[in-house]
Amino acid sequence: MILAGTMKINYKQHLEIGGCDTVELAKQYGTPLYVMDEELIRENCRRYLRALKKYYPRGKIIYAGKALLVKAVANLMEEEGLGLDVVSGGELYTALKAGFPSERIYFHGNNKSRRELEEALEAGIGRIVVDSMSELKELAELSREYRQKTPILIRVKPGIEAHTHDYIRTGQDDSKFGFGLADAFDATNFALDNGSFLELRGFHCHIGSQIFQLEPFRLAAGVMIKFMSDIRDKTGFIAPELDIGGGLGIRYRRDDRPPSIEAFVECVAGAVRKYALEHNYPLPEILLEPGRSIVGEAGITLYTVGVVKDVPGIRRFVSIDGGMTDNIRPALYGAVYEAALANKALQEPAEMVTIAGKACESGDLLIEDIHLPPVEKGDLLAVFSTGAYCYSMASNYNRNPRPAVIFVRNGKSRVIVRRETYEDLVSLDEI
Ligand code: LLP
Repeated sequence: MILAGTMKINYKQHLEIGGCDTVELAKQYGTPLYVMDEELIRENCRRYLRALKKYYPRGKIIYAGKALLVKAVANLMEEEGLGLDVVSGGELYTALKAGFPSERIYFHGNNKSRRELEEALEAGIGRIVVDSMSELKELAELSREYRQKTPILIRVKPGIEAHTHDYIRTGQDDSKFGFGLADAFDATNFALDNGSFLELRGFHCHIGSQIFQLEPFRLAAGVMIKFMSDIRDKTGFIAPELDIGGGLGIRYRRDDRPPSIEAFVECVAGAVRKYALEHNYPLPEILLEPGRSIVGEAGITLYTVGVVKDVPGIRRFVSIDGGMTDNIRPALYGAVYEAALANKALQEPAEMVTIAGKACESGDLLIEDIHLPPVEKGDLLAVFSTGAYCYSMASNYNRNPRPAVIFVRNGKSRVIVRRETYEDLVSLDEI
């Protein structure tokens, strides 16, 4: 069990979140159901902002919408004073529809279409994070057509790649994202030469996601400042902004110990100061783009247990009413999750089971080998840390309607995305 934020076990021995009994939530809204602890999301935003204020006041937190972006989340980020990172016309549209201020939106992506770039220019968004030479040229052209000067960041590959417990320094540039250091020089020159249409604000990097060590962030900051100082020496350009990307890990397993938000911010701030001093570089504004560490642990998914099937001598399959369609991460990345029986939250684990999804796919196993109290049909299973990259990666495989998403806070719940209906599923079909 991972009791994050407001989660606890109530006197009925039910799991509670945001002051709401999960058994009641399941009755009211049905399952599968994504439940988000609104207070914890807000608290995580505030922790980021407080830490920045303490360690590096000239900075911004840009929430990475790919983790979970729906209108209510955009509104929440707006209220908390964060910026928003979007990666597609669809995410941009969602943010604008929610009334998110366009000047606080950062547009990423390795293959933005001409249409998407136009949408961004028309909206007057804050920054376009340019990922390739062809995009840079297209954007210069478009900006000329639109008679405007577009503020941009150039995405650089710092040659450091980090994943959970491991990182590597790669000399090579085998990634589809961004410019290698040498090409980034050419991109910078192009941007500076086209200064009437492109306003180069600085540089961006992102080294990975679900990262448990701070060292790779420190190294990335070092590479970026060194690069910026080389640019200055060659061109005289001083970058006002440095975007270090996102990537801080969260707890998926009980013994996961990711660094705290505060330690992460302190580390990046300290590294930027240290390297800026070393290179005699004016301190840039720093931008951080966390996604998972803001919404991940705030979410749980509730499922109803259906068929329990024993395969003698092998395993007991406990099937639930969702699976890879609402959480693709175990099937796609081998991600491991914790779960509990929300209606029997204090009962001792008694058996080892495998939680199977309902999709027609042998690989649709949500959790292999987990200890749970005796499981029966009708029990309520809560899977923890599903707030990031679950709803946003959900699909309609097997024509399963996508679940509702609700916010809970102070004993109240509200639907932020309604459950899809069968009618929704056929609504795009043209016969
Ligand atoms: N900024 C950029 C440029 C990114 O590419 C990403 C994530 C982020 C920020 C946010 O990273 P976070 O703080 O959430 O780690 N679907 C995968 C994760 C893909 C992350 C892609 N980029 C998963 O479910 O693990």
